Amino acid sequence: MSLTSDDVLRHLQSLEIKGWNPKLIGGLHVDQARVMLALQVDPALASGLEPLRAEVEASLASLEGVETVQVVLTAEAGPGKASTPTQAQRPAQQAAPAQQPQRGGPIPGVQTIIAVASGKGGVGKSTTAVNLALALQARGKAVGILDADIYGPSMPKLLGLDGKPEVEDNRMKPKEKIGIKVMSMGFLIEEDTAMIWRGPMVQSALLQMMRQVDWGPLDVLVVDMPPGTGDVQLTMAQQVPLAGAVIVSTPQDLALLDAKKGITMFRKVNVPVLGLIENMSSFICPNCQHESPIFGHGGAEREAKRLSIPFLGAVPLEMAIRETSDSGQPIVASDAQGPHAAAYLAIADALLAQLDGGKKSWFKLPKISFSG
Ligand SMILES: Nc1ncnc2c1ncn2[C@@H]1O[C@H](COP(=O)(O)OP(=O)(O)OP(=O)(O)O)[C@@H](O)[C@H]1O
Ligand SMILES: [Mg+2]
Repeated sequence: MSLTSDDVLRHLQSLEIKGWNPKLIGGLHVDQARVMLALQVDPALASGLEPLRAEVEASLASLEGVETVQVVLTAEAGPGKASTPTQAQRPAQQAAPAQQPQRGGPIPGVQTIIAVASGKGGVGKSTTAVNLALALQARGKAVGILDADIYGPSMPKLLGLDGKPEVEDNRMKPKEKIGIKVMSMGFLIEEDTAMIWRGPMVQSALLQMMRQVDWGPLDVLVVDMPPGTGDVQLTMAQQVPLAGAVIVSTPQDLALLDAKKGITMFRKVNVPVLGLIENMSSFICPNCQHESPIFGHGGAEREAKRLSIPFLGAVPLEMAIRETSDSGQPIVASDAQGPHAAAYLAIADALLAQLDGGKKSWFKLPKISFSG
């Protein structure tokens, strides 16, 4: 049984530590074995509360099923400043859907927005998102990437980008790498700063990264979604005016089960699922070229068929893909003629066929031309 935010909340409610009060809970994010907790405190008292913070952190670390814990003190009330105490105590995972704004209108200058998502963490969404974006660019599209993983942004590392974005007329300029425009929470916070926000704050950050950024003109904006299918992810799926979603899964049954949750989530909010990608499909030994299906092989294609979802293609588990990701030189750019780039290009073609084939009705802007 994996850890839930309710387990953690129950533990926090019953904590017996001097100075502890569950009302201090400003935000809670539980992602499998990862717990992030924000304690909302009076800034004037913050320095004296460090021992309490450390004790709460140690106590959470001792909970069964917890692998990593971050507890931070925050004075930040964010957009919820005017919120009632009950809202302030509501952890991010439990933000009431009724509070979420409706899916917004189009983003000026952006033609089509697609989400790269999965139900499960670590299956290669971000790696797929960046290489798919580069493959779409290789097919002549003007492409941007929105890193919507507010808790664990990947794009700064994957593209070797850092520093704050420039701001002009209260609008942020996306950073640019290999001709791709990129926006990520990673540009706005220090790398080691723990981000623990309540649902409304996540919404507000995401909205700003979408709408207060000079994206255009773009043919495709690829949104790298955070892992999971909780309320926060659901909210994101609702707020981004998506043309559709691409689901990434590894081939084994467990990941596919989570992929199905992801598919259900998008269907719930009427976002078309444009297809399934099998990542880490098989391992080809660099020495003997023997192919080993480490996570099985073909599971995602079978599942796609069963769910009547297009299968967009498979990407092998390959050391070069990880190495190029780690070094900020994604493989479609650094080895454009290689076999792995070819796999991503084939996926991009399948995706474009879905988008251009008119088989789905998706959110699309009329082309606007500017003269003069
Ligand atoms: N096809 C692949 N071959 C080898 N390594 C891969 C492949 N795809 C992803 N990886 C590696 O697996 C790790 C996880 O990938 P990535 O960060 O893209 O996953 P994610 O689904 O975005 O994770 P999270 O859920 O944390 O956002 C990274 O180290 C990445 O380099
Ligand atoms: Mg990721």
